[in-house]
Amino acid sequence: MRNISFIFKQFSKSVLLVAGLALCGLTANAQADPAKGEAIFKAKCTACHKIDVRMTGPALGPQLEAETDDAYLTKWIQNNQALIAAKNPKALKIYNEYNQAGMTVFAELTDADVANVIAYVRADWKKLKEDKAKPAAGGAVAAEQGPSDLVIFGLLGVIVIAFIVILVLNKVIATLERLLLNKSGLLVDEEEEAEEKVKGDKLALVKKALKNKKLVFFIVLCGTIAMGSWSWVTMWNTNVHQGYQPVQPIKYSHKLHAGAMKIECQYCHTGAFKSKNASIPSLNVCMNCHKAVKTESPEIHKIYDALGYDPQTQKYDSTKAQPIQWVRIHNLPDLAYFNHSQHTVVGKIECQKCHGQIQEMQEVYQYSPLTMKWCIQCHKRTEISGKGNGYYDKILAAHDKIKKGEKVTPAMLGGLECAKCHY
Ligand code: HEC
Ligand code: HEC
Ligand code: HEC
Ligand code: HEC
Ligand code: HEC
Ligand code: HEC
Repeated sequence: MRNISFIFKQFSKSVLLVAGLALCGLTANAQADPAKGEAIFKAKCTACHKIDVRMTGPALGPQLEAETDDAYLTKWIQNNQALIAAKNPKALKIYNEYNQAGMTVFAELTDADVANVIAYVRADWKKLKEDKAKPAAGGAVAAEQGPSDLVIFGLLGVIVIAFIVILVLNKVIATLERLLLNKSGLLVDEEEEAEEKVKGDKLALVKKALKNKKLVFFIVLCGTIAMGSWSWVTMWNTNVHQGYQPVQPIKYSHKLHAGAMKIECQYCHTGAFKSKNASIPSLNVCMNCHKAVKTESPEIHKIYDALGYDPQTQKYDSTKAQPIQWVRIHNLPDLAYFNHSQHTVVGKIECQKCHGQIQEMQEVYQYSPLTMKWCIQCHKRTEISGKGNGYYDKILAAHDKIKKGEKVTPAMLGGLECAKCHY
């Protein structure tokens, strides 16, 4: 008897334990944290997935709306290869649908991590759908553009009115002159004679004007000033390549990749936050997607040719590789030192402030003049925010030490950072 009751006790204990664990699991699920999910999604999934657009893999928003079996999804995300190997029908179906492209295995993601990612994708998709449904968003943009259009139309209106006023005044003056001449009895009735007289008058007028030294001097002065300022401006603008927009060897579009698809700048320009140079991505970065996306496009075949990649056999042959020669657009002379991370990380300046609305450019052009005046003007006008800025915390600490007469070394002022001494 004691034995049975012991077994019963053990049994109820384990039932309780399982129930408790399940409850924990459930609450953990209910408390899935989309913010944590976003971080994981950005780090691990964006190379192949977007929320709303199909890339190498399916658009995850609609996909996770249709697929509500979270247990299956968790297994898939943690180890899709295992599901495919086990011939899970759902897994096989999507695998074949995507030409067996094959998703990375994420064994390192815990159940909670996956729940967070799923929660993030569903929340973001919901938000995107709501944003699309709102017509107000477009209206706001239109309203924002409103004033500048208004200003232009206003200016045009003023110009047209001024023109009309000048015409009317001219007419009035002519009539008045006629009246005057009429009064003094000088007006000849026949029109032809009048015209001939005017012609003769004009010639005489020019001759007279040429004799007037003051007038000649004034005209020459105006001419000199105009020529001078023109050459002054031209001289200042030599070697300024603002607006420079060379044709690139591949029709790569920032409007599509950085704009419509919202790929972050540093996905390709990895150096922009870390070092002096923002750097142009190697073609392998493109291959993360274009191994599977738009494989039929002749533009994409230029990438394949450049890498010596054969889309049929999916093999690389480095002997056939021939690097793409992107044409460099922004180029400071060697005598000027410009560091991206100083501006993007420490200065917290957005790329667009210096490069313009790159995400709207089909082809990139040089937006800023890149002259010394341009650098200096911004340095004079931009206010530095020292709060919560590691760079300034260090400098302030050093200043305090200098005030107190303590030992300060260049290392404390950042003198060990590679980019301070190296190009
Ligand atoms: C290397 C590219 C790649 C990466 C990285 C990637 N995926 Fe995928 N994913 C795919 C492809 C391709 C498919 C389509 C199925 C196939 O071909 O294996 C897919 C399919 C899926 C599916 C659909 C499964 C189904 O049956 O409905 C989900 C969900 C998914 N991925 C989630 C994720 C999540 C979450 C991450 C990040 C943790 C991620 N993927 C990272 C390429 C990728
Ligand atoms: C998918 C990869 C990719 C993304 C994302 C991307 N770029 Fe680029 N970027 C390139 C490539 C490739 C080039 C060289 C070809 C060209 O000039 O169009 C380039 C060129 C540039 C240039 C001109 C470089 C020069 O020659 O002077 C600037 C500036 C630039 N990108 C800024 C940005 C900014 C800002 C963003 C984010 C809004 C961004 N890029 C996002 C791939 C990318
Ligand atoms: C994150 C994925 C991704 C990356 C990285 C990426 N692309 Fe794309 N790219 C796409 C997608 C998706 C499209 C197709 C959009 C569509 O359906 O028209 C595309 C379209 C293109 C096209 C237009 C093809 C055509 O004929 O319409 C070109 C050219 C291109 N990409 C070049 C590049 C280059 C060069 C790089 C590397 C600097 C690159 N892409 C990196 C996803 C990517
Ligand atoms: C304070 C202005 C400024 C900001 C902010 C800025 N850039 Fe630049 N960028 C420049 C200048 C100046 C050059 C030319 C550098 C040279 O020739 O040495 C340049 C050059 C580039 C180039 C050409 C390749 C290279 O590294 O020289 C790329 C790509 C680029 N920037 C991308 C970016 C991206 C992406 C961001 C945002 C993360 C960004 N830039 C932010 C001023 C800026
Ligand atoms: C959009 C405004 C802007 C433009 C344009 C700009 N800078 Fe700056 N720059 C800053 C800001 C803000 C800082 C301060 C960052 C910080 O907090 O250290 C800075 C810092 C610097 C520093 C470091 C100064 C120091 O004391 O360590 C150098 C060097 C520099 N810029 C060079 C340049 C050059 C060269 C150009 C032109 C090619 C340029 N900058 C254009 C805003 C700009
Ligand atoms: C205080 C200035 C300074 C700093 C900071 C600095 N270096 Fe140097 N570095 C130099 C000088 C000067 C030389 C050349 C020495 C010589 O030619 O004997 C050099 C040489 C080098 C070389 C050898 C180059 C060659 O052609 O042989 C490398 C590599 C190097 N540095 C990397 C780094 C890295 C990485 C960092 C950051 C962790 C760094 N340096 C930080 C001043 C500096």
